[in-house]
Amino acid sequence: MRNRDEVIISDRELKKQYEYMDRVGAINGRKEYKPLAFVDSYGCQQNEADSEIMQGMLERMGYGFTREESEAEVVLINTCAVREHAEMRVLGNIGALSHHKRRNPKMIIAIGGCMTSQQSMADKLKRSFPYVDIVFSTHQVWRFPELLFRKLTMKKRVFETSFCDGRIAEGLPVVRNDNVNAWVSIMYGCNNFCSYCIVPYVRGRERSRDPEKIIEEIKGLAAEGYKCITLLGQNVNSYGKDLARDITFTKLLYMINDIEGDFKLRFMTSHPKDATRELIDAMASCDKLCKHLHLPVQSGSDRILKEMNRNYTSGDYLKLIEYAKESIPGIVLTSDIIVGFPGETEEDFEDTLRLIEKVGYSALFTFIYSKRPGTPAAEIEDPATDEEKQRRFDRLLKLTNEKSLELHREYIGTVQKVLVEAPGRGENYSLAARTDGGRLVHLNGDLSLVGSFIDVKITDCSPWALFGELA
Ligand code: SAH
Ligand code: SF4
Ligand code: F3S
Repeated sequence: MRNRDEVIISDRELKKQYEYMDRVGAINGRKEYKPLAFVDSYGCQQNEADSEIMQGMLERMGYGFTREESEAEVVLINTCAVREHAEMRVLGNIGALSHHKRRNPKMIIAIGGCMTSQQSMADKLKRSFPYVDIVFSTHQVWRFPELLFRKLTMKKRVFETSFCDGRIAEGLPVVRNDNVNAWVSIMYGCNNFCSYCIVPYVRGRERSRDPEKIIEEIKGLAAEGYKCITLLGQNVNSYGKDLARDITFTKLLYMINDIEGDFKLRFMTSHPKDATRELIDAMASCDKLCKHLHLPVQSGSDRILKEMNRNYTSGDYLKLIEYAKESIPGIVLTSDIIVGFPGETEEDFEDTLRLIEKVGYSALFTFIYSKRPGTPAAEIEDPATDEEKQRRFDRLLKLTNEKSLELHREYIGTVQKVLVEAPGRGENYSLAARTDGGRLVHLNGDLSLVGSFIDVKITDCSPWALFGELA
């Protein structure tokens, strides 16, 4: 177990970053206008949470925010590396920044996140994107003020991409992008090394925040009026294993459930190998916990699960799902599936379809396997062609949509208590809401309802959403 003093970033180190924020703030204070920053986040909620912290630091340094790159003095891109497609998108967008930089040479372009936490990608940015000013890894997020100050005062490009096991910074400022939903990271990093996955290499080892800090943050969010709080971690079930004290994820859930306030609680992600019956029991008995379990299974084939280093069988998984269904009637189940893992045969794939049939997911996040250099799966022979993988993917999508539609139909005619999350995005509905089980509900109503729990009668559905009216 790592020494806690080494994991937690000291007050002295944090104070230094606050000093850098003040120094950048002083530089910006001399300007006759408010400088703007553009922040873009790719990938998962963990990245969004990191971006919200960097926004907090930027705000303290005197920056306002814009959604137009051309107006920004600081462009900050928080990248994802989970699939090749995510990296390609980011690289394309960084490429497109070159003409903004030509028009505005004072613009500072900073690239951080999981993609730049791979040395090969950091090197590529150094070589091929000379107009990128700051490149930093996920481990340096808390040092962003220092990196920006260095760039502003020394004019040299700044590269801080060295890998470490990872630490925890408490007490940094944060600007949240939403006022109904809030993210709370309860732990960072991943120790699981699923054979296809890059995350453990770019996010470091598992480390849990102290429960007191989490409780304090959530009390603050509840007092500010946040209505849905999502606890984040790559495998929340590992929470507390690195703390030399009597705490588990389930215990943490009970503690949070006792916090006063009218809010709902979600968590992601839960690894099946560590998901326990106690977790399901907690979901059944905690009134604030949403009755939704996102439990990524990845494959229904035991052979592939072994190759993936997932450490459970489809039988183990189904047993837990059975228990969840018995304990929490109406529980909503969702999952992640990878199609075309190296060596996956038609038979393995059929196993996945069978498992999906058995479970009955309301939604699935489906991905075609993407080779991540440096991971063990990248070395496994992969005879299936892209066309075969695409065909499997299409079949999977078809089954997923049929199943989701079937489950969504059961809502028609019922009244659901939903949280109105935001104004509607399309033309036809003025509000977007979510059921306790996380199903999206489109409806019409006054914008003042955003942030309230209301009763909605479900009138129609699609595989992706429900439609309703105020009950
Ligand atoms: N920690 C979470 C998931 C993080 S990544 C968990 O274990 O559930 C989110 C999803 O991306 C994974 O569940 C997996 O389905 C998918 N994924 C990860 N690496 C991938 C790869 N190399 N190719 C395709 N999909 C991948
Ligand atoms: Fe990746 Fe597996 Fe860790 Fe999830 S648990 S982040 S899939 S290595
Ligand atoms: Fe992507 Fe990193 Fe999240 S690789 S999915 S942003 S942990």
